[in-house]
Amino acid sequence: MECIMNYFTKFIIMLTILIVITSCDNSSKKGMNIKKETFGKVDGKTVDLYTLTNSSNIEMKVTTYGGIVTSLKLPDKNGNFDDVVLGYNDLNGYIQKNPYFGAIIGRYGNRIGNAKFTLEGQEYSLAQNDGANNLHGGVKGFDKVVWDAEPIIGQDSISLKLHYLSKDGEEGFPGNLHATVIYTLTNKNTFRIDYQATTDKPTIVNLTQHTYWNLAGEGSGNILNHELMINADSFTPVNKSLITTGEIISVEGTPMDFRSSTKIGDSINSDYKQLKYAGGYDHNWVLNNSDDGKINFAASVYEPTSGRFMEILTTEPGIQFYSGNFLDGSIVGKNGKTYEFQNGFCLETQHYPDSPNKPQFPTVTLKPGETYKSTTIYKFSTK
Ligand code: GLA
Repeated sequence: MECIMNYFTKFIIMLTILIVITSCDNSSKKGMNIKKETFGKVDGKTVDLYTLTNSSNIEMKVTTYGGIVTSLKLPDKNGNFDDVVLGYNDLNGYIQKNPYFGAIIGRYGNRIGNAKFTLEGQEYSLAQNDGANNLHGGVKGFDKVVWDAEPIIGQDSISLKLHYLSKDGEEGFPGNLHATVIYTLTNKNTFRIDYQATTDKPTIVNLTQHTYWNLAGEGSGNILNHELMINADSFTPVNKSLITTGEIISVEGTPMDFRSSTKIGDSINSDYKQLKYAGGYDHNWVLNNSDDGKINFAASVYEPTSGRFMEILTTEPGIQFYSGNFLDGSIVGKNGKTYEFQNGFCLETQHYPDSPNKPQFPTVTLKPGETYKSTTIYKFSTK
């Protein structure tokens, strides 16, 4: 009798544990999921690949190498899923030759003229990795390092929290910078990015994300039919080496006017000096209402054949629209198709290029005791 009681008690305890575990597991209940696998090795470190899936089966893969979004599968208007971001199938592709596909960009996204800046009376020299200029954090920017990762399961979202310590003097930048980037995929079909950073010496920070989009599906051709809207009355013109001149000029009457939804291809080949310098679009737009500290509507993109629609909101004052002008067919992507000229585009929320040398632009200086914070949201739907 005692023995039966014992078994009975054990059975009840096990049953209770099982019920508690299943009721806590919101993720599987709502169809949300996060999986981890090994992607390879670099610099003697293991690189992981996380797969985040939300309740509508939107699936995003992120590797700890560069925080790269390697794949993002979105439904079209008929419910068919396609991968809408350019990239490689394996880690080696990213290590060998990556024009920043999908990566986190830092410590300073975009260009710094002559690869030099002065901060609190001291001049800093950086790598000249883009002609005479510094581009996207230098030779080994945040896109080429291994980030620590921690998966987080929320009520209606799944996140991957990435952290990287950029040491004092790394790539020429002052201060130990603790950078945290949280990628969140929500059940409302948004991809939210929260950036944070702190430093122990005055430094400069400008973090962004360099996903190349093709809403008709990666490898499906050029992006000239996508309809783009940018919530900006003005932009920052550049010189021949794509360094901002320091001016802010109106988009009115120029091919830079995307205030109403316009096909990217409509004026991309027009005889306009700014477009000639860049071989297409590769400019920073000055977002409207961006000085209110709130998250504002920045841009939207619609791809008519698939019906996919993407809206971008940000706390940043600027957005770089890059029409993939350096893609030249030398890269074979995930589906075995080559990425030709303008087969993908980027919309990089950011502070303005070369801000450290342009005191009239919003500041990118971060001091000890302060926290750099930035949020960008990509919202996906169809119409
Ligand atoms: C950014 C730059 C471009 C180019 C790409 C990467 O968008 O503005 O000029 O360097 O990155 O190829």
